Amino acid sequence: MTASASSGGPPRHVAIIMDGNGRWAAMRGQPRSAGHRQGVEALRRTVRAASDMGIGVLTLYSFSTENWSRPAGEVRFLLELLRRFIRTDVAELHQSNVRIMVIGDRDGLEPALRKLFEEAEALTRENTALKLVIAFNYGGRQEITRAVQALAKKVAEGKIAPADIPPAVIGNHLDTGGLPEPDLLIRTGGEQRLSNYLLWQCAYTEFVFLPDYWPDFDADRLRHAVEAFRRRDRRFGGLTAQTA
Ligand code: FPP
Repeated sequence: MTASASSGGPPRHVAIIMDGNGRWAAMRGQPRSAGHRQGVEALRRTVRAASDMGIGVLTLYSFSTENWSRPAGEVRFLLELLRRFIRTDVAELHQSNVRIMVIGDRDGLEPALRKLFEEAEALTRENTALKLVIAFNYGGRQEITRAVQALAKKVAEGKIAPADIPPAVIGNHLDTGGLPEPDLLIRTGGEQRLSNYLLWQCAYTEFVFLPDYWPDFDADRLRHAVEAFRRRDRRFGGLTAQTA
């Protein structure tokens, strides 16, 4: 993964924490499941808008390693929504030249779900427009831990020396290896935290926190977030014309 500056064009990589489905539903006196259902509609709108804007990579936090602690009924519902989304939308996404990738820990997931991920990834592997990265059973600390374990194994087997592990090698052992780092991270729902999302990758990412609940997210809100991002002075620890 490489740090990427954006010079006027669309951000190369936008990551989103889609928060606020439950509160959106509660405000309307509806069950949380209604919020998640509308959340899928917002997700569809966002994928289309990101494609239209020429964004290269869109990474969505669909289910965290911590989300398993929610009530069993809600977990089942979220898993079913994801299954249905992939089954019903994969053909259209493929036609739109979207490449689907899934990041997160697949160990221990039910085989049918793993197969669904693998099939969607295989079908769309050669697509060259938007990369839609779905973070499922994803946790940043767990991802870094898996990368460290893989590297420690290579050291133990004598394949590499500890001194041959610069940050770029660690980055390439993450699930996002080969993708640019997020330029912009958007979190809806009013909270201002990372919640174990892309911890390594967000070292120089610009954050936009929105009060809106995720089911209300749309192309306009995405455009506004990108405009706010464009006004930022990204220095990557150095100096730019404004600060020199
Ligand atoms: C946060 O809302 C959202 C989630 C835990 C999951 C996001 C899921 C979707 C948008 C729908 C399913 C996903 C796919 C990929 C089809 P929350 O429940 O934490 O809301 P709250 O903070 O208001 O309770």
